[in-house]
Amino acid sequence: MNPNQALWEKGDFTRIAESMRTSGDELVERIGVTEGLDVLDLGCGDGTTALPEARRGANVLGVDIARNLVEAGNKRAADEGLTNLRFQQGDASDLTDLADDQFDLVVSIFGAMFAPRPFDVAKEMMRVTRPGGRIVMGNWIPGDPTLVAQILRISSAYSPPPPEGFVSPMTWGVVDDVVARFTAAGISEENIRCEPDTFVFEAPVSPTEYLTWFRDYYGPTMNAFEAAETNGRADELFAELDALFNAQNTTGDANTTAIPATFLCIEVNV
Ligand SMILES: C[S@@+](CC[C@H](N)C(=O)[O-])C[C@H]1O[C@@H](n2cnc3c(N)ncnc32)[C@H](O)[C@@H]1O
Repeated sequence: MNPNQALWEKGDFTRIAESMRTSGDELVERIGVTEGLDVLDLGCGDGTTALPEARRGANVLGVDIARNLVEAGNKRAADEGLTNLRFQQGDASDLTDLADDQFDLVVSIFGAMFAPRPFDVAKEMMRVTRPGGRIVMGNWIPGDPTLVAQILRISSAYSPPPPEGFVSPMTWGVVDDVVARFTAAGISEENIRCEPDTFVFEAPVSPTEYLTWFRDYYGPTMNAFEAAETNGRADELFAELDALFNAQNTTGDANTTAIPATFLCIEVNV
């Protein structure tokens, strides 16, 4: 199977997504999603931003590579009676099922950044967006001191080196790379805006228990623990991540977790 798909079908990302709902809703509010807008939410997971987009009256298509997340998203939409939202499987690097100029807004929050072939991703997002429309991406930033970049940095020290030719998803958090990809897709540089923003992970459990959700349900962290286990270093990895999660918790209460993480918010006018 496509390793990108296998990574995200592993475990159960919905368990992590539960801790992302409030910030997801606030981000959709900041993006400015309005009634009647045709929206593509790419790498949508189980709908952390797609449901808030649909609740605001947009016509939303969620596309994700992971079949279990597509199914979970369709269930959430049905449970909420959102007839203006549906989810289907697709690959952000090759949106063959989608026509040119189909959407007013393409949103991808920590989603399309994980697809292979980033130049193709920019080209595809651009192709399906109508002239006058917008693309909004949220991408983690390499080397950033906050949670997600640090989880990936720590995990990589316990994991085998990536295959030759692998382009790190984190390069989507580097302004020069973002500009190179969208200009290659035909966008002029003055129509690309990049600004740091903050997303808060919230869970009604201690930071240590919250870390076990990543270890047990989040594909990339599960892989890091599997690699560490084979080298007898799983306890060391847990201890390093535990120190990170506890140091970054802002609740002041040992039994609840709120950890802010900085990301690069990119807005492209098509
Ligand atoms: C960190 S999750 C974020 C999900 C969602 N946007 C959210 O904020 O909760 C990354 C998502 O990107 C999806 N993804 C990874 N590679 C993809 C690809 N090539 N095409 C479409 N989706 C992809 C994964 O399946 C996963 O749902």
